[in-house]
Amino acid sequence: MITLHVNGARREVSAPARTHLADVIREHCGLTGTHLGCEQGVCGACTVLVNGAPTRSCLIYAHEAAGMEVTTIEGLDEDPVAEALRAAFNRHHALQCGYCTPGMMMTARDIVIRLGAVDETRIRDELAGNLCRCTGYRGIVRAIAEVAATRPAALPLARREAAIPAPPPPPLAVNAPPVDAALPNHLEHRETLAIPPDVAWLILSDPARIADCVPGMRLIRHEGTLVEGEMAVSLGPFAVRFAGLGTLTLDQAARMGRLRGQGRDGANGAEGEVQWRLEPDGEASRLLLELGWRLTGPLAQFSRPALLRGVVAAMAADFARNLERQARGEAVVAKASFWGLLLGWWRALIRR
Ligand code: FES
Ligand code: FES
Repeated sequence: MITLHVNGARREVSAPARTHLADVIREHCGLTGTHLGCEQGVCGACTVLVNGAPTRSCLIYAHEAAGMEVTTIEGLDEDPVAEALRAAFNRHHALQCGYCTPGMMMTARDIVIRLGAVDETRIRDELAGNLCRCTGYRGIVRAIAEVAATRPAALPLARREAAIPAPPPPPLAVNAPPVDAALPNHLEHRETLAIPPDVAWLILSDPARIADCVPGMRLIRHEGTLVEGEMAVSLGPFAVRFAGLGTLTLDQAARMGRLRGQGRDGANGAEGEVQWRLEPDGEASRLLLELGWRLTGPLAQFSRPALLRGVVAAMAADFARNLERQARGEAVVAKASFWGLLLGWWRALIRR
């Protein structure tokens, strides 16, 4: 049984453990305004609000949303921002078949509330995670720009979301400096490891073993704090192999590590910092990750945090399972489950 709060109502749902939130919303709650397209986190059709943040409901299990406030398109009937957006979408002919529209509205509402008056370039960046296959984006962007310029003031839904705050994430490390604030994108993520912290730290303090656990990563050199390596990434239509240098620092006492690096592959560039810390969690461990990054070149269109959050979660899960396999002396899985699926989806779409 999972207890969800959907559009302000409490719902008790009986569903298998691995049912994703979108299926529960549609099939158990009967709220079919949330659409499913790719079911791989790419198209954005399934976007709902979880504690007020746009979230791909195909990428989280329903039980992960337990205790949080889930808002679907049906929950925005009375919302003044959504009302203004509906009218603007009509005026600017911002939909044709309407399949993408519920997800678009969720993202559009977030843009209006979060950014206010904003130019079309930024709107297109923010919409990178919502695909429309028939209308084109011109009308959608114009509709959002028009509403964002006036930014309707009354937001009762936002107030209701604020009444159910998400638990604040713990500080990554008591005295650890935060990941470089100058990097434009930031994300925090947690994973539970089914191994004790001492065992996990043996791997997380060894660059070669870390690299073995990350699908697509290869360590070329490690001398003192200097590391050199490459990382193969397939994202959407892009398959890139970043080669670069980094600086690795480890804090044994705090069971904490930090890697700062940058790399290039042709027109694509990446610069980033990742900090990790281990904490005991009963017999297991909790792995806390904090990331900051900047992408340049064609790959930069995937920088949007809402899109990257799901991707990073999938990568971190791949990494965590490999780490557990290493600790048990088993072979790691070298191929990322998520990246390959994503690329396959894009190729199929392009063929169509
Ligand atoms: Fe969830 Fe496409 S169905 S992102
Ligand atoms: Fe048809 Fe966007 S209106 S997919």
